[in-house]
Amino acid sequence: MLFASLASLLLSALPVKSVVVPQAAVSDHIFANPVAVPTGQNVTIAGVNTYVSLPKGDFDKSRAVVILMDVFGFGKTDNFTDTWADAGFAAYMPDYLLGDPLPQDNSVPADIWLVNHTEAITTPPLLAVLDALKVQGVYQIGVSGYCFGGLYATRLTQNNTVAVATMAHPSFLDIPDDYELVKAQSHVPVQINSAEFDTGLTPALADEIDQVMVGYVPGYNHTAFAGVGHGFAVSANASDPVQVAAKEGAFNISSNWIRSHFDSN
Ligand SMILES: *[C@@H]1O[C@H](CO)[C@@H](O)[C@H](O)[C@H]1NC(C)=O
Ligand SMILES: *[C@@H]1O[C@H](CO)[C@@H](O)[C@H](O)[C@H]1NC(C)=O
Ligand SMILES: *[C@@H]1O[C@H](CO)[C@@H](O)[C@H](O)[C@H]1NC(C)=O
Ligand SMILES: *[C@@H]1O[C@H](CO)[C@@H](O)[C@H](O)[C@H]1NC(C)=O
Ligand SMILES: *[C@@H]1O[C@H](CO)[C@@H](O)[C@H](O)[C@H]1NC(C)=O
Ligand SMILES: *[C@@H]1O[C@H](CO)[C@@H](O)[C@H](O)[C@H]1NC(C)=O
Ligand SMILES: *[C@@H]1O[C@H](CO)[C@@H](O)[C@H](O)[C@H]1NC(C)=O
Repeated sequence: MLFASLASLLLSALPVKSVVVPQAAVSDHIFANPVAVPTGQNVTIAGVNTYVSLPKGDFDKSRAVVILMDVFGFGKTDNFTDTWADAGFAAYMPDYLLGDPLPQDNSVPADIWLVNHTEAITTPPLLAVLDALKVQGVYQIGVSGYCFGGLYATRLTQNNTVAVATMAHPSFLDIPDDYELVKAQSHVPVQINSAEFDTGLTPALADEIDQVMVGYVPGYNHTAFAGVGHGFAVSANASDPVQVAAKEGAFNISSNWIRSHFDSN
């Protein structure tokens, strides 16, 4: 008893050790097997191949959502981006992987692939697209990042480059440091969807972000989804009702988050 409370006192006095959230192994991802037919098209924006999916009816040209894909790139996510357009958002997915996604067949180890996808390489094309959108009169940009894209959604939040941010199962974050930086310098409302079985952003790491973000004035929401793993917000096994509901639930929360924070600006 005494030892236990002494130990917890000592532990709480120690500085928190920061942890870099690993990229979940390829085998830990949920992959859909979609016969997806994209309805948008690729457009070169500021020299960067960008998948663009626009709402069918009239829409507010001063707002857009930028989708930051996971390490597997366009293939799995272009039809997913159409879901955003269907919900009324002009949706842009810049290929910040520069045509070089991580192969899903494990033929290239992630650490080798990452050498050509460092922040120094990936950030300039991303910012070039955001700048081009702003020049076109898109004054309010919401960002939604998935896995690898969650790091960039966090960076754009830290730098106050976007109006509002959401992400799901982010990887490569430094926890708690990256969210201490958000809390210290950002005015961007941020929303995170996490998965019970994510081997990257584990529930314990997600809890740590929550602790840092207590009292964050611009707005913070974290929603944890039970029974799903890394990648669930992008892909779902159509025969698994838990996965289907989690993917749809994550989309609903993040799209409502972006819509309501656009409206309040
Ligand atoms: C994605 O593709 C599937 C299969 O073609 C289709 O049923 C679904 O409606 C598409 N989703 C969107 C949002 O376009
Ligand atoms: C857009 O470009 C990507 C990357 O080259 C490609 O995988 C995808 O099929 C293209 N999508 C469309 C709709 O042309
Ligand atoms: C990284 O990019 C360089 C320059 O394009 C290329 O020569 C090299 O093969 C790439 N490395 C990997 C692991 O793809
Ligand atoms: C954020 O700002 C830092 C410091 O100026 C910069 O190095 C980094 O490239 C920026 N990242 C993004 C995604 O804007
Ligand atoms: C996060 O948002 C969801 C959807 O609006 C809501 O149900 C949930 O209560 C929110 N969580 C917190 C901790 O505010
Ligand atoms: C999809 O879910 C069904 C039902 O749970 C399961 O039988 C099937 O193996 C799953 N497919 C994949 C690729 O995980
Ligand atoms: C998501 O929102 C749609 C439209 O409002 C609703 O029909 C659906 O039931 C919601 N799904 C989940 C899982 O919350």
